Amino acid sequence: MRSISRTALLIGTLVVVPAAATAAKGLRAKAEGAGLFIGTAVRFYHRPADTGVLMSPFRDDPVYTARIAKEFNIVTPENVMKMGSLHPSRDSYNFADADSLVDFADQHGIVVRGHVLVWHQQTGDWLTDGAFSKAELQEILEEHVAAVAGHFAGRLFAWDVVNEAIDDNTFKLRKTIWLKSGKDYIERAFRAARAADPDAVLCYNDYNHAASLSWQRQKSDAVYKLVKKLVKKKVPIDCVGFQLHTAPEIFDPAGIAENFRRYADLGLQVHITELDVSLETPSTPATRKKQGAIYKTVMDLCLGAPNCTAFVTWGFTDRYSWIPEFQPGRGDALILDSDYRKKPAYKKLSKSLKKAAQAVAEAATP
Ligand code: XIL
Repeated sequence: MRSISRTALLIGTLVVVPAAATAAKGLRAKAEGAGLFIGTAVRFYHRPADTGVLMSPFRDDPVYTARIAKEFNIVTPENVMKMGSLHPSRDSYNFADADSLVDFADQHGIVVRGHVLVWHQQTGDWLTDGAFSKAELQEILEEHVAAVAGHFAGRLFAWDVVNEAIDDNTFKLRKTIWLKSGKDYIERAFRAARAADPDAVLCYNDYNHAASLSWQRQKSDAVYKLVKKLVKKKVPIDCVGFQLHTAPEIFDPAGIAENFRRYADLGLQVHITELDVSLETPSTPATRKKQGAIYKTVMDLCLGAPNCTAFVTWGFTDRYSWIPEFQPGRGDALILDSDYRKKPAYKKLSKSLKKAAQAVAEAATP
């Protein structure tokens, strides 16, 4: 059994916080004290429900970007590194949006989690309508991974190499366009990613595989089996991502720690990759308090697991979130409200991180 120390893993990767950010005392200053990456997905395009007019949080809302720089030391693009966004036709790539996020991150001492190289959604019509043969699909997958991971090589902390490959009903490989390229597509993707960017932490990412004692048990075991097989075959995988889109009605912390631990036993990091806690809207002080407790539970489970190195939420302000669009009647899922005010969830995270940073400091004092 290999043991993993978060602090040892992150030494050399964790960036020194610029003086201004430290003075501002966002979450990142405390997270750095605790040896943890804390971050958010970043949204480039948004259509507010009230106006319906497309705008860009990243380009048009300076409060949004200032808050990211203050609070976080890791970011991930919500959409602009997906195949449909940066690979618009078989022979063309458009890296403009993704490049501007990586440049922004560099300027602010923030690291980037790439999301995502191989996924069956948001791939673009040219792929789904293309009627490609198995051999052509193999070539497309490997070319895509080589081109995209190669483009950002040396600039990203981690990549979600493959996303959501396990089926929710059969618990076998999901029947996707990528499976048509061959049952070994996952390992081909990881090998191509490692070849293109030898330094990035390579992750398998999925949802509903965090619990071992509830309705998520079968999926948790299926993902574990898949990952264990990859490790055994010496496929270059370094980490497992837990999306953790959740809600008070379904949140079940039982089993999260065990799942984190069994990946540590395989020598792998775990990342919380897409946490949000959706509420029935309008939310109330009571439901926002419950939500805060869930954020705290997940943070404490991550801090308690030496191999949990990154805690990323799927957005950070209720002003811009995918939940109301995808789950009508629900929303308010994030740690700041739509006017950037701190919700109980923010305060809980801040407190947990502060405590963890103090414990690290005390342990280091002779
Ligand atoms: C979502 C984005 O948040 C939306 O803006 C987009 O329209 C659809 O995709 N799992 C994932 C993410 O891995 O990429 C998804 O993001 C949410 C579910």
